[in-house]
Amino acid sequence: MKGKQNTPDGVSPKKLGPAIRTVTPDDDRLPPSHTPSSPGTDIIARKGFIGNIDFLKGPKKGDEDEELKRFSNFPPASAAAVVDMIIAKNKEIGKYPFPHCVTYTLWATDNVNTYGKSLSQIFALVGLRLVKGTIDEVELIPLNELKRPRIDVVVSCSGVFRDLFMNQMTLIDQGMKMAAEAKEPPEMNYIRTHAFQMTQELSCPLREAATRVFSNAAGSYCANIAAWIKSNEWENETQLQRQFLARRCYAFNSDKPGMMEYKSEAFKAALRNADVTIQNLDLNDILSITDVPHYYDADPTKVIAALRFDGKIPTCLLAKTTSDGIDVHSLAETIRIDSMSKILSPDYYERILKQNQDGVKEISDCLRNMLGWAVTSGNVDTFLFEIASSIFMEDKEMCTRLREKDNVSFRNLLATFVKAGEQGYWETSDAKIRRLRELKKFAESAFD
Ligand code: BEZ
Ligand code: MG
Repeated sequence: MKGKQNTPDGVSPKKLGPAIRTVTPDDDRLPPSHTPSSPGTDIIARKGFIGNIDFLKGPKKGDEDEELKRFSNFPPASAAAVVDMIIAKNKEIGKYPFPHCVTYTLWATDNVNTYGKSLSQIFALVGLRLVKGTIDEVELIPLNELKRPRIDVVVSCSGVFRDLFMNQMTLIDQGMKMAAEAKEPPEMNYIRTHAFQMTQELSCPLREAATRVFSNAAGSYCANIAAWIKSNEWENETQLQRQFLARRCYAFNSDKPGMMEYKSEAFKAALRNADVTIQNLDLNDILSITDVPHYYDADPTKVIAALRFDGKIPTCLLAKTTSDGIDVHSLAETIRIDSMSKILSPDYYERILKQNQDGVKEISDCLRNMLGWAVTSGNVDTFLFEIASSIFMEDKEMCTRLREKDNVSFRNLLATFVKAGEQGYWETSDAKIRRLRELKKFAESAFD
């Protein structure tokens, strides 16, 4: 067959013109004409969540093949198991049987890498599933199968998720509307209960009061809280919370697909009911919750406390994927463990200071992210800042080392300590803050 240059449909390459190169199936010197699609790969989770990434990409309607049927078993049993953990963890912390409303942040990469893990948890909380054999129709799991109340969910989609996964936003929105309209006892359906309250609060019909899928305006990304924290120019939490609400309050509505509508009052009314906040960590991206800023940028915990009539801070949880499945932890314990085993552990900080060019930057970024979490969630123990200060600021030799290695990051580190002290997230003596301010001035006057 070598040398035969016809395309599979028999068209001679000459007729296609000289610029077009023909690839025949038996020409093994040439790469394939396209890269086949493949699932995202969470290096830890790998298999066993939702059927396949093709569900997320949304195969064509009417596609009836065997593969499609396999993908449509959603949510998988593993999602119900995570929901049981969320309920149990909240019961341990909050001392009541069921959360009434949970907020979820949907990240694009996390859902791609884990076959729709957090999406499946939302389905399981509400008691939703795909209609068998379809990937674009949702139905309620009957209460006698669910065996617990339907839990309300406020969904906050990252801008990238909004850009990529409109089909999935549609399914959640349709499911929430279905739940609100289901004639079920109020004590077994918190979506319906809350939606009825919201018809009064917002003077709107029931379907509209079931609006729960939010994101940024089209073309806009994130709450930009992390940018404020990085600048150190922010003044108080209220200012940041206003910004969060203003940027993240654009609602998706499957009755009017294709637009994100500014729905500030609906967003506030939905968040006001939340008693749990949760995010799934994408372990492909990070080792520790203090490594990156985007999780706290998306965290609504204190925004909710400010909106709630009782002022209560919601239980703040994180779901972490391990090789055994998913574990649900409180944010406070996660930050404690992550920071004590990373930047506050001598083994760790000595290694990065010796081996990494950007070791000081890593320490500075971690501390700033801890401050970010303290601001958005209040789940950072003040003693963590105290330990950090005793390691990096009170040892003269260490200060000199940090300054000489990377003065820019050293200045940023100092600025974070000063801000944490001034704003009360680090409860320490005035004398310590004064000394750090002086050190900061000195570092600012030095050459980089
Ligand atoms: C995401 O949606 O996956 C994403 C967005 C911003 C930063 C990181 C991840
Ligand atoms: Mg309630």
